[in-house]
Amino acid sequence: MKVTTSFLELREARESLKATVGLVPTMGFLHEGHLSLVRAARQECSSVVVTIFVNPAQFGPAEDLSRYPRDLERDLSLLKKENVDLVWAPPTETLYPADFQTWVDLEKVSKPLEGAMRPGHFKGVATIVAKLFNAIQPQKAFFGQKDAQQAAVIRQMVKDLNYPIEVIICPIAREGDGLAMSSRNVYLQPAERQAATVLSRALFAIRQAFEDGERDAGQLKQIMQTIFNQEPLARVQYISCADPVTLQELESIENQALFSVAVFIGNTRLIDNMLVP
Ligand code: PAJ
Repeated sequence: MKVTTSFLELREARESLKATVGLVPTMGFLHEGHLSLVRAARQECSSVVVTIFVNPAQFGPAEDLSRYPRDLERDLSLLKKENVDLVWAPPTETLYPADFQTWVDLEKVSKPLEGAMRPGHFKGVATIVAKLFNAIQPQKAFFGQKDAQQAAVIRQMVKDLNYPIEVIICPIAREGDGLAMSSRNVYLQPAERQAATVLSRALFAIRQAFEDGERDAGQLKQIMQTIFNQEPLARVQYISCADPVTLQELESIENQALFSVAVFIGNTRLIDNMLVP
């Protein structure tokens, strides 16, 4: 496994990779969710590239950039075990020099939900992912359904900017009790960690209600709200039932719906979602 930091080293190492090249972009502090993407890439591609870069541009001024968890040594040893070919972990200045001024901003799909709660977030995400695509030029790129709107933003960007890249979205990896894996779960105190299962419990309840025949978005969202109301440590930011491609809110489910939630558990903001059916 080759580990690179500069652009020059990356370009040299990229030259010797056999197609198909699969890219897994991450912000590090890897968990089984990230590794499930790496394994999918390993299965589908001849070469696997993982990037580790905590992208300052996607964090708001009051967000957790400075305390975002990091452990490069541990990340590298995990990636080595997964037979990754190349890791790129550049310093911030390499991707954002002082005079940086070109941004990728999507007009519609990035605006509701996470985009509304975290202004500028998807501008940061789309810009860094475009830069990583340009730098690595993969044939396939792997993302998680955990960040459903991010997946929709990247799909749209690939289409709009004509990237010759196949985007593959992998299922949400969950802990045994249902909690979606996230680097931010380390912020949870023990009681909060227990309370955090309320997100997946609410989403699984929706799926059950849908299977029992409920199609009204309002009714289904109310079922979730009732479950959140029973968890004193949970403060709901949004509950959404939207079209999975456009992220526009739905009134009833005709084809497929994306149920997504953002909930504070104590001071930690968690997101989770489920596609129904
Ligand atoms: P990060 O949060 O590190 O996540 C990297 C990738 O892992 C994303 O595609 C994310 O959706 C996926 N992932 C995270 N938790 C997952 C889980 N429980 N199951 C399946 N996949 C999971 O997302 C980012 O970084 C950044 O926004 C990035 C795309 C790297 C751009 O900076």
